[in-house]
Amino acid sequence: MTHAQSNVARSLREAPASEALRSAPSVATGPAELAEVLAGLDESPRRLPCKLLYDARGSELFERITELPEYYCTRVELGILREHAGEMARHIGARALLVELGSGSSRKTRLLLDQLPELQAYVPIDISRSALEASVRSLRRLYPGLDVRSLVADYTRSFKLPLPAELTQTASKLVWFFPGSTIGNFEPGAAVDFLARLRQLRPGPQQCLIGVDTPKDRAILEPAYDDAQGVTAAFNLNLLQVVNRRYGASFLGRGFRHRAVWRPEEGRVEMHLVSRYRQTVRVAHHTLQLEPDEIIVTEHCYKYEPEDFARLAGQAGFEVECVWLDAQRRFSVHLLQSA
Ligand code: TRP
Repeated sequence: MTHAQSNVARSLREAPASEALRSAPSVATGPAELAEVLAGLDESPRRLPCKLLYDARGSELFERITELPEYYCTRVELGILREHAGEMARHIGARALLVELGSGSSRKTRLLLDQLPELQAYVPIDISRSALEASVRSLRRLYPGLDVRSLVADYTRSFKLPLPAELTQTASKLVWFFPGSTIGNFEPGAAVDFLARLRQLRPGPQQCLIGVDTPKDRAILEPAYDDAQGVTAAFNLNLLQVVNRRYGASFLGRGFRHRAVWRPEEGRVEMHLVSRYRQTVRVAHHTLQLEPDEIIVTEHCYKYEPEDFARLAGQAGFEVECVWLDAQRRFSVHLLQSA
């Protein structure tokens, strides 16, 4: 493994085995979500919410993306976590509550859990019930003494931590774990608001261990989001099937192609679905007309230099306690602390 570069900036209990997964009231099917879908499709360029990428099939395809040769983020972040998990755990200390946002398979978390035997509880939150159920099963097997309190929720909306007072009162701090550069899928202003909202969810000391991708050459970035095997294309196109199913829409998968574009001036990769021809699509009781080559933006993936991300976190009430990068500065993991 490469020797990672480390920059220090300024500064048990047994859980019941068959506990049902807790679920927030409405995960992406209610009228508010439909309104969000319709409003996005009305914008120019048209947009669809990226969280709809993660139904059961989308979550499976995403797991395959993380193993693609072109998609470096997961591998490099895992390398950073593998190399520095011990140091990260020392910064976190004993009796913390670890809450993971978008836990998926919880593969990265295990590297931390191995170093954090004195965790008060681990709360994986994911929008995909199937992904969460599978990961909770394997975590309970691997860490029988760990208190796992999972939550099926769309964490971009308001959610309540499934933690009883006796747990939170004796915890040393709340630690958010937000790997995968998912923070880059928010617009920068929304990223600030989101981190600020996390900060305000509970009083008391907090840390946030967060993965952030860095800007780099187009020749690396575009293939990372448009691989030779077409897995990312299938992942992006699957979103249309999710919209069809959940909102009674009539998108034809073959009517669109996938495209990824790096926009250095914006610091983001854009994922598009491009209409192959003029077509009319129905969504619930609305219709829209798409011109040939008209795009639907499905996701923005912002990339931040460490200094720029530190500034963004600062606006949300967090300061950087520590940053770890790989030797080639392809990816960063920041440990933020509540200011
Ligand atoms: N947040 C990660 C990233 O931006 C993972 C991700 C989200 C992703 N959407 C994606 C990866 C679409 C590939 C394609 O890289």
